[in-house]
Amino acid sequence: MTVSIVRENAIAIVAIDNPPVNALSQAVRQGLVDAVAELDADAAVKAVVLICAGRTFIAGADVNEFGKPPQRPHLPDVVATVEGAKKPWVAAIHGSALGGGLEVALGCAYRVAVASASLGLPEVKLGIIPGAGGTVRLPRLIGPAAAVDMITGGSPVGARKAEALGLVDTIIDGDLRAGAIAFAEGAAEKALPQPISGRAVPVVEAGFWEGAEKAIAAKAKREIAPLRALASVRKASEADFAEAMAFERETFLELRGSEQAAALRHVFFAERAAPRPPELAGVTPRAIRSAAVIGGGTMGAGIAAALRDACLPVVLIERDAAAVARGLANIKAIYDGSVKRGRMTQALADERMAGVTGGDDYGLLADTDLVIEAVFEDLSVKRAVFDKLSAVCRPDAVLATNTSYLDPDAISQGVSHPERFLGLHFFSPAHVMKLLEIVPTETTAPEVLATGFSLARMLGKIPVRAGICDGFIGNRILKVTRAQAERLLLSGATPSAVDAAMRAFGLPMGPFEAQDLGGLDIAAFQRKAARERGETPFAPIAERLCAIERYGQKTGGGWYDYQPGDRAPKPSETVAAIIVEEASGRPQWVWEEADIADAIILPMVNEATRILEEGVALRSADIDLVKIHGYGFPRWRGGPMQYAQARGLAAVVAVLDGLAAAGLAAPPCEGLRRAAQAGGFQGLSGRG
Ligand code: 3HC
Ligand code: NAI
Repeated sequence: MTVSIVRENAIAIVAIDNPPVNALSQAVRQGLVDAVAELDADAAVKAVVLICAGRTFIAGADVNEFGKPPQRPHLPDVVATVEGAKKPWVAAIHGSALGGGLEVALGCAYRVAVASASLGLPEVKLGIIPGAGGTVRLPRLIGPAAAVDMITGGSPVGARKAEALGLVDTIIDGDLRAGAIAFAEGAAEKALPQPISGRAVPVVEAGFWEGAEKAIAAKAKREIAPLRALASVRKASEADFAEAMAFERETFLELRGSEQAAALRHVFFAERAAPRPPELAGVTPRAIRSAAVIGGGTMGAGIAAALRDACLPVVLIERDAAAVARGLANIKAIYDGSVKRGRMTQALADERMAGVTGGDDYGLLADTDLVIEAVFEDLSVKRAVFDKLSAVCRPDAVLATNTSYLDPDAISQGVSHPERFLGLHFFSPAHVMKLLEIVPTETTAPEVLATGFSLARMLGKIPVRAGICDGFIGNRILKVTRAQAERLLLSGATPSAVDAAMRAFGLPMGPFEAQDLGGLDIAAFQRKAARERGETPFAPIAERLCAIERYGQKTGGGWYDYQPGDRAPKPSETVAAIIVEEASGRPQWVWEEADIADAIILPMVNEATRILEEGVALRSADIDLVKIHGYGFPRWRGGPMQYAQARGLAAVVAVLDGLAAAGLAAPPCEGLRRAAQAGGFQGLSGRG
């Protein structure tokens, strides 16, 4: 039974058991309505405890039902039925009370929770707003300001904060069920509290709504749900309950069918599928209880912090004592920053640092489970490191390289027990960025690959398997992005126009601003290596800028000029003159924002399709995760592949054909043409 009832003296316990997260499927909704009717009619029952089995309270509406026509009983009616019950219902919360789950709890007369529980209305993260009274009841209970924070931000609050807000009546220490029953016995002695729907919304100060709108609009950019959620809370403050409920429901249904909601649902499911790829089902990963990082520079320090944040003891190996000290200082700087920003207490930062042992003696690694190499991007340096690791590490220790562009197969030559070797490609800053590309070599054993995925779960990262090619998935697409951005400059666009168009598309930064921030020298170094391999990388203007040492912000100029101490990009006459020279003799166009975005995004989709066809990525959704979590692609667009599908693959092919005819992009690959005919990417790599 998804909803069952047991009676303990005068208290009925209604238990929901709908694994994995007690989502409000039709059966659960119906079960709740039936339970209210049955218990209202039972004179022996004085109060009711609503509790859930398994890891969590109700985590929300069933997201799987969102694409389908809504089925009765609708959730707002379920909540109203619970609220109208003749006996006091007590929601007993553990795990998460999210979305529709919190809305059901708001229908209850009381809410009690264990201290570890969290409560929230995360609907905006799915491109929708609460649809069962969340925007109408929450401001009545905790006031509009706190309700606006919770509903438009979508982040849950912990039980203690919820108690302080008045959202939770009491925290239960010890057994939740027993504590909730005791609470319900007390509630049975008192008159029923006024239902939340009958309460007034506390008045806000003048200018509150305008201020909130401005702040939310600035943050949400082109994401629609947060502002619509605000409008719904405002309606709840200004209209009566029934009118506000109708307004909320109308907005909810409209947004549920929107493109942004479809994209965000796609990402939701892709993120949950990523840590457990079906091809590794049944493969047992190796246990990771200790880790080491070789190289304490930008990446090594970030990786060490990520490992420490997962509570693993970490050894940091550097070249000599001075380099060890620098590496440890780099890690400390990360924690100092967290403390300064209020994200961590000093005591916790100290504890994290205390778990790092620095040294230049590889003997420290004799019993380490996992070693991640993050030394200079140079094949011979990396090979020398793995020679030493081969000599000192246990034969079952997992050895990983964080290389960006080198061939992991080449790095692994000579490694003893090469089946324990793989690429683990982190993104900078490694303790922050969620993406982890996992790159098996020809010899990587399945359980070692599975260990990469289990490590990602430990670190809270989104793992994506990538095959070996220049740049794996993410940086290979990035090369196309940058080449297209330069093609635009050669055909009449300016760096500011290109950057503005990409920001308007939803990226946090345009391609030129981003290069100025990261430094143009890294890509120049890679192009040099590519030329040495006989390739012909396309970056005519970047090459000119590097030749005059315009490497970006760090040299006071790159694609833009920068005043000392000011990071604001200013258009550069030097760059404009170089563009004119390089563009000479080429056709010039007038570029609209949308056309600029097409000329960059659609060639990325084309390259991504090749990546899929070659099996470098296994699923189109994996490519979406790479771009969202490694490169700031707007989540609400669902990633480039979801965007292309929503746009229509036939239309994408047509635009690419047009760009190719004008010499502005490569023509659509055969795979993309086939996908357009098939109406999707399914089948391209055999896994869709
Ligand atoms: N509907 C359907 N399935 C859901 C779900 C939901 N709301 N929430 C989670 N799941 C599924 C996941 O897809 C996953 O399935 P799988 O095992 O087959 O891959 C499984 O539950 C476990 O999920 P996680 O891997 O995320 O488990 P965690 O323990 O890490 O996290 C959680 C649990 C905190 C509940 C997390 O799943 C979560 O945040 N879920 C989303 C909650 C949410 O967004 N709720 C709002 C829904 S919209 C709504 O309620 C509208 C209403 O206002 C009308
Ligand atoms: P970095 O130059 O900041 O750090 C490299 C560190 O390695 C230095 O501290 C150096 O002292 C140390 N080192 C060099 N040789 C060593 C040896 N033999 N033994 C021990 N330590 C040694 O470089 P960064 O940026 O941290 O890059 C490291 C690796 O990570 C490279 O392979 C790079 O391609 C890759 N990477 C870099 C990213 C970035 O954004 N910087 C992103 C993803 C991967």
